[in-house]
Amino acid sequence: MFRTSRGFQPTQMLARANIVAQRSRGLATEVHVQRSAPQPPMTRKPRAEGDIGSVFASLSGEAETPLPQRFADLKSVIAGDESNRARMVSSFRTLTARLSRAAEEIERAGTKAVPTVSYDSVLARDPATIAAIKRCGTAVVQNVIPRSEAETWLQQVLAYVAANPQVRGFPADDKQVFEVYWSKPQLAARGHPRSLAIQRALLSLFSLPQNAEVSLTPVSYADRLRVRHPGDAKFALGPHMDGGSVERWEDPAYRAVYARILEGRWEEYDAYNLEERARANQNLYDGAGACGVFRAFQGWTSLSDTGPGEGTLRVYPLVREMTAYTLLRPFFREKAPRSAVSREHYLAADNWELDIDSAVFPQAPLGRSQEFNNASHPHLELDRTMVSIPRVRPGDQAWWHADVIHAVESVHRGAGPSAVMYIPAVPLTRLNAEYLRDQRACFEARCPPPDFPGGEGEASFKGTGTPSDIEGADARRAMGLDAFPVAQDMRAGERAVRLTANSVLGL
Ligand SMILES: [Fe+2]
Repeated sequence: MFRTSRGFQPTQMLARANIVAQRSRGLATEVHVQRSAPQPPMTRKPRAEGDIGSVFASLSGEAETPLPQRFADLKSVIAGDESNRARMVSSFRTLTARLSRAAEEIERAGTKAVPTVSYDSVLARDPATIAAIKRCGTAVVQNVIPRSEAETWLQQVLAYVAANPQVRGFPADDKQVFEVYWSKPQLAARGHPRSLAIQRALLSLFSLPQNAEVSLTPVSYADRLRVRHPGDAKFALGPHMDGGSVERWEDPAYRAVYARILEGRWEEYDAYNLEERARANQNLYDGAGACGVFRAFQGWTSLSDTGPGEGTLRVYPLVREMTAYTLLRPFFREKAPRSAVSREHYLAADNWELDIDSAVFPQAPLGRSQEFNNASHPHLELDRTMVSIPRVRPGDQAWWHADVIHAVESVHRGAGPSAVMYIPAVPLTRLNAEYLRDQRACFEARCPPPDFPGGEGEASFKGTGTPSDIEGADARRAMGLDAFPVAQDMRAGERAVRLTANSVLGL
């Protein structure tokens, strides 16, 4: 339940919690739509108060703890019969050889390993642009939002934070990642027509069978914003993957996404198949870092002119290779430790053997994000291969696929703020519609969205946005405020998921 926050009494907290619960049952009156069907009760429980530091084991200073023994059994089941195990061993050999060559290529390319593309080329589905994005898994899309508009948003963000000094943030003594979700510039950025158009185009990179109950219509996922100060070295997020950790192996639907890799055929793995991903449970342990929606691409919109070395995003720029290694890594263990042999000997395939009897899943703690470092995932050679993304200007967007290993530069050596709003590309699914319903209740109560550390949030803030600030039909639908149109000639799965979503949302 809620914890008491500064200046907010437990009875008020309880009242706030009741407001959220009641509104989620369809008692809201502030929104502009007629809700024809009663809404189901919100089953998601609010999270404890906190900040982004509670999401990552490395930021919280937590040591890696062994997983329960049942994870050894899981490994054995996934490894399958003798022939599957043999294929895994031989594919680990080809994969580690590929990773070694990839490290050379990436080191040579540096920042250019991440494509910078234009808004128009993405919208026009230019084949070279699409191929570059799909191979890398990350891209900078330029000029999505007019520069002057993005610069205005930054000024509005700074004014909002200044007007509400009680705002929570990380680190607490010099706040830079703010627990702010409902400021007016964030609402504008999430629903901007050009931003929604890019989200739709990125979702369209994924293939979808006729009956898959997924719509590539983007829905809004409310997330934080960051304004990193020059010289900061505290917001140093190490390499990690969002979308859960052990869930990638433990949840059968999630595991199905990676079936080719786990069958020892990583070269055939398609990172852009949406059907299983949309059904995957990325949140088995309700941890602080768990995500309640399926985000096909994570992204942010830049509010500043920020280049490499200025506190920007870093990624491993080959999505198939990194995913294959992440998934296969727990099934192998070293023979000679790193301290005993040369780097080449240590990384050589002959120094690694099948491990299907331990519960070791490196850096995949329960209820936290999957993290990576040189010791846990040595073949990625992260010290050579995590590249900073190219320079972004206000209004540019950075996008990275759900499985991309990413980090934030440890030191911001620039002269100005390194400011972004986190806005991902989220398709419409039943699970995402359920989240949208609960997120809408939080929006109406001005509390943090369901996935984020709880508390009163922005309830007492000055200048917070409301549903009436959301303009445009697509933007309102993306927030669950208006129904998704349904037509007879739609793909069967498209039609079905829209009907389901409208029912879930009580629209
Ligand atoms: Fe992340």
